[in-house]
Amino acid sequence: MCGIVGYVGPRPAPELLISSLQRLEYRGYDSAGIAVPDGGGLAVLKSPGKVRTLGDRVRSEWAPALREGARAGIAHTRWATHGPPTQANAHPHCDQSGRIALVHNGIIENYADIRRQLEAQGHTFASQTDSEVLCHLVGEYYRDGDLLQAVCAAMRHAEGTLGIAVLCADRPDQLIIARRGSPIVIGIGDDETVVASDAAAIVAHTNRVIYLNDDDVAVVTAGSVEVRTAQNVPVSREVAKLEWDSEAAEKGGFAHFMLKEIFEQPDAIRNSTRGRLDEGAGTAKLGGLAMAPREIAEIGRMVMVACGTSMHAGLVGRFLFEDLADLPADVEQAAEFRYRNPILSPRDLVLAISQSGETADTLAAVREAKQKGAVIAGLCNVVGSTIARETGRGVYLHAGPEIGVASTKAFTCQVSVLLMMALKFGRCRRLSRDRGVEICRAIAALPDAAARVLEQNDAIAKIAAKYAAIRDIFYIGRGTMYPVALEGALKLKEISYIHAEGYHAAELKHGPIAMLEPVVPVLAIATDTPGREKMVGNIQECRARHSPVIAVVSGDDRQFDDMAADVIRVPACPALTAPIPVAIALQLFAYHVARLKGCEIDQPRNLAKSVTVE
Ligand code: G6P
Repeated sequence: MCGIVGYVGPRPAPELLISSLQRLEYRGYDSAGIAVPDGGGLAVLKSPGKVRTLGDRVRSEWAPALREGARAGIAHTRWATHGPPTQANAHPHCDQSGRIALVHNGIIENYADIRRQLEAQGHTFASQTDSEVLCHLVGEYYRDGDLLQAVCAAMRHAEGTLGIAVLCADRPDQLIIARRGSPIVIGIGDDETVVASDAAAIVAHTNRVIYLNDDDVAVVTAGSVEVRTAQNVPVSREVAKLEWDSEAAEKGGFAHFMLKEIFEQPDAIRNSTRGRLDEGAGTAKLGGLAMAPREIAEIGRMVMVACGTSMHAGLVGRFLFEDLADLPADVEQAAEFRYRNPILSPRDLVLAISQSGETADTLAAVREAKQKGAVIAGLCNVVGSTIARETGRGVYLHAGPEIGVASTKAFTCQVSVLLMMALKFGRCRRLSRDRGVEICRAIAALPDAAARVLEQNDAIAKIAAKYAAIRDIFYIGRGTMYPVALEGALKLKEISYIHAEGYHAAELKHGPIAMLEPVVPVLAIATDTPGREKMVGNIQECRARHSPVIAVVSGDDRQFDDMAADVIRVPACPALTAPIPVAIALQLFAYHVARLKGCEIDQPRNLAKSVTVE
């Protein structure tokens, strides 16, 4: 959940590390720190707060000779787990000698035992973190100038997950990098090497990368990368090309990444679906699934595991698999799934849905499903991510990097991909070619539908202005619009801190209706999709309790004009694709409410983009 950057090369390291770290700030932003070689020792600076604060301190506290002269370094932005976001708990941490510095993502599970052992050997600790313990462990194993074997030994001793970068004053021209369960990417530039926990920090420098495997350790210098296993055996890892260009990780004139990503949706959906629709045959081509029609026909049940927004996409997907592929489909919160002893058979397909491909609970659910012999596949956005690698088969979203903490384009691309999967599965089972052709056309029309919702931006902003001061709101929907209501409410609470609850419209009467009063609005999704007629009744129930209703309707539908205080119009779409334009409208609504409240939209309080802890 934190961000790591490291650099070795001819350029001044501090400025480069700070600017690269800023691109990772969406991963965690409660404290930050940096370490560089300094006159035979190390200079370390750490600061609570944002990377900006750290950058200001580097500029004011470090002498120009250090700022300009350091040619290597490591840096970190933190999302606190062990210990609050104080200066002492910020990374990098140093070992007992103060000559080794380390930045760490992940959790060391046996850190308390290691700490006790090391304390008995005379080590003293400055922080409450598990990461500092790991650094001391490396220091303890460091002998005869061999940092690589020290890191390998520490990796074998430490249990849990780690992505680390280590800098030692004895070798100011090299870094040691290691990975177990927490990603590390090595970017290979022209006579320079940039390492990071996430490609977003690398794209500005190079598009040639090496993804480390679990339990890999690498020695990197400006001109070389040498990868070994934790047993210190050399291995070769291929150099891949990053798909994203540096613009993809910039705001490009938008006030926030979230807004940029909302507006990218027509293109993102186009990229997700490009080359994957076969209109002639009325099906989709998803090579990464690597499943023959016969295998698809033999699937007995779909189980989607995911968290947060990805789980909401799965809930939409459930309708699609049932409707198009005649396939029983369940969606499970990944943490619930892994701890519940789920019943699985070899005919079950467990699909892990994860934008980042790093969510700890989703990953653990994949491992549990693998253990129980189910067929597993991944639906991820981040190429080379842990879930993508562990599932070994699946579909990438190709949505481009999502930097805003509140997920937007990933959701609509996930739904688009689930639609294509359901179509393909359907065509291997009972779906007719004619129906398949219709669905292909509906999918192909999605980028245009998304663009038309974006044309409503100003209208939605005006409506949002009327609700920026509310404290509570309910979102209601039916059918596929029920998960969209959940997702709309999640967006609003994530970025505006307004108490927003998503409910099935039919469930309103079973409790939440007690909350309704004139200051509690209800956003009702009343599009021209199954359940619309029933929604008319639900809206009347809300009005009868004097709750203002914001109705989301299809096209020119006028039926709700008199019933609703406000109407948000989305383009009319076939029922199967309608969740996408509605989700975009609700993203815009949440964005404008949060903007008007002056909230930190791209970095909402307490949240992190990828949750790599349970
Ligand atoms: C975090 C993010 C959410 C995201 C969820 C699952 O909570 O803030 O936006 O939906 O994790 O993430 P994933 O990367 O697995 O889709």
